[in-house]
Amino acid sequence: MEFDPIADRYDFLNHLLSLGQDFYWRAVMVKELNPLEGERILDLATGTGDSAKAIVEKRVTVVGVDISFNMLLRAKQKISSNHYQICSGSGYALPFKSETFNGATCAFGIRNMHETTKALKEIHRVLKRGGKMVFLEFSMPRGIIRTPYGFYLGKMLPFVAGIFSRRDAYDYLADSIKKFYAPEDFARIIVDAGFSRCEKRSLSMGCVYVHIAYKD
Ligand SMILES: C[S@@+](CC[C@H](N)C(=O)[O-])C[C@H]1O[C@@H](n2cnc3c(N)ncnc32)[C@H](O)[C@@H]1O
Repeated sequence: MEFDPIADRYDFLNHLLSLGQDFYWRAVMVKELNPLEGERILDLATGTGDSAKAIVEKRVTVVGVDISFNMLLRAKQKISSNHYQICSGSGYALPFKSETFNGATCAFGIRNMHETTKALKEIHRVLKRGGKMVFLEFSMPRGIIRTPYGFYLGKMLPFVAGIFSRRDAYDYLADSIKKFYAPEDFARIIVDAGFSRCEKRSLSMGCVYVHIAYKD
């Protein structure tokens, strides 16, 4: 999926379609990362920089990596801090030496990297021992809200998004969420890729999960 064509309206639609909850999800991610002043943090699939912005406020250096030029451009326009550096690159071949970062984040990005294990191994390689990686990712909730949420994702969300942006991109969003791993399977894949352990917790009734992967 190409993010360049939707970069302009990306932030607006994120806030609208999540009913503002994306601020809360990112705040949880930063709390779980708990970065210490002066640390170096990788924000993989940094996009327009909303996660990076929340991390930079903790007085750490954030390196945001993404394959989309337009998304990176928006990020740099938004975050003027010298503590935020952007880097055009792929999660499959990160342009950093092994054990460079104290911690890492990836919000709504890993679902777009279809060679999941390859990306996870790269993240593990560039993390220092004792570091952790925090993922935020959408999930299909279970129980009573699964059917209405499926309708919202598959029908309402692409319709509303289509008014402001490219509908096909948001059809992809719904489809990719439905196809992504169940939370416990993603946790297992994280450990299989080399992380020592993985904790997970659900947000917004299971529509979003945070996974915390540790490198001991
Ligand atoms: C849904 S956006 C998330 C952006 C941002 N993290 C956020 O929370 O708003 C997914 C991002 O992943 C990026 N992406 C997709 N595949 C990638 C890859 N292989 N390496 C790096 N970034 C990638 C896209 O360009 C896009 O900016």
